[in-house]
Amino acid sequence: MKHDIKDISLAPKGELRIEWAEQFMPVLRSIRERFEKEKPLKGIRVAACLHVTTETGVLMWTLKAGGADVVVCASNPLSTQDDVAASLVEHHQIPVFAIKGEDNDTYYEHIGAVLDHEPMMTMDDGADLVCTIHSERPGLIENIIGGTEETTTGVIRLRSMEAGEVLMYPIVAVNDADTKHFFDNRYGTGQSTMDGIIRATNFLLAGSTVVVVGYGWCARGVAMRARGLGANVIVTEINPLRALEAAMDGYRVMPIMEAAKQGNIFVTLTGDMHVIGEEHFKVMKDGAIVCNSGHFNVEIDIDALERLSVNKRRVREYVDEYTMEDDRRINLLGEGRLINLAAAEGHPASVMDMSFANQALCAEYIVQQGAELGKKVVPVPREIDEQIASLKLASMGMEIDELTDEQKKYLSEWTMGT
Ligand SMILES: NC(=O)c1ccc[n+]([C@@H]2O[C@H](COP(=O)([O-])OP(=O)(O)OC[C@H]3O[C@@H](n4cnc5c(N)ncnc54)[C@H](O)[C@@H]3O)[C@@H](O)[C@H]2O)c1
Repeated sequence: MKHDIKDISLAPKGELRIEWAEQFMPVLRSIRERFEKEKPLKGIRVAACLHVTTETGVLMWTLKAGGADVVVCASNPLSTQDDVAASLVEHHQIPVFAIKGEDNDTYYEHIGAVLDHEPMMTMDDGADLVCTIHSERPGLIENIIGGTEETTTGVIRLRSMEAGEVLMYPIVAVNDADTKHFFDNRYGTGQSTMDGIIRATNFLLAGSTVVVVGYGWCARGVAMRARGLGANVIVTEINPLRALEAAMDGYRVMPIMEAAKQGNIFVTLTGDMHVIGEEHFKVMKDGAIVCNSGHFNVEIDIDALERLSVNKRRVREYVDEYTMEDDRRINLLGEGRLINLAAAEGHPASVMDMSFANQALCAEYIVQQGAELGKKVVPVPREIDEQIASLKLASMGMEIDELTDEQKKYLSEWTMGT
């Protein structure tokens, strides 16, 4: 079995860590039990390009239990957990092509390796598989029944392919399920981003000024958790509605040029490029910490930082200190890549339980419905979303009320309105 991982001897450690994650993924566990019996993915070759973390390990177990023939590569060069990669290869015979810290060429070689598997289904986090297939390996398309997309940026890229009429097979936008972005993007990114910043720096948040760039789902979570740790939070936005929401949530809102002078820590969560750049670095305080938890490594203009600095040194494992001509130091975390995955462990398992339950059920949906979905970005069916929410609530030991007949009638008839 071909694979490319760092060190197979890490497998036992990885297995223990995947088992630990699995404990907190009761929804995915229940799907796996059903998949084991029903084999809804029997014979389906799946290529997955996801962050190779413990939770992804549990998803891979689930797909395999459903009968899928699955291969995995990383969706980010810094997010791979090498012990998880080893465990999937050694204990589960799942080919993995991912090494933490791989360079850009290796990253794309690994994407090529999973595509050599001739997938019938793709599972993306950022649309790199779909884009590579469409631009470099179009011959694979005829055998592909559909795919899924995990994150906001990927869905944006896919929608632009659909609008340009170049998308050649259906993709289910897992990101847009309510049980995904309401929870994963907000609570998952919120907690794990603060975890990554703290592990990388051991910086005291209380009393500091944290600048959150963007106020989308991920940024709301980060702002909320930074405030919980005692930071003064400034939000910057380009969307007036989101900015207004941030203001009414109690944060200070101002342009990034102004915030750049005030912040101790900067976190970008926009999916956009170069939201922090040269003019901002020029006015930052000595010791400013800059990191990204949004998209890939494009949000911070690292070339500008390289140009402006007279010295660069790695001062801690995930911290590059850039010294400016006037002796100010600016610290870049995790080379500008997602800090929650680079320096911490990504989202906690309990929240990934819902995201990956969507992935597993949407894989089944594609097998059942793929032929009818068209060459489009399609939503996760409402029934899947509601089923996941109900299962998660039940796993938390919570029950909710049901509408009475009288209430159902009241809510569905216009004549009873007043
Ligand atoms: N770190 C992670 O583990 C993780 C998890 C989920 C999503 N993501 C990624 O995080 C990014 C954000 O996702 P989201 O779901 O919050 O998206 P979103 O669309 O809800 O929010 C993005 C926000 O950024 C704002 N924005 C865009 N350009 C800006 C600029 N120049 N300055 C200030 N604000 C700007 C937009 O107006 C929007 O409100 C995406 O790239 C997504 O793929 C990361």
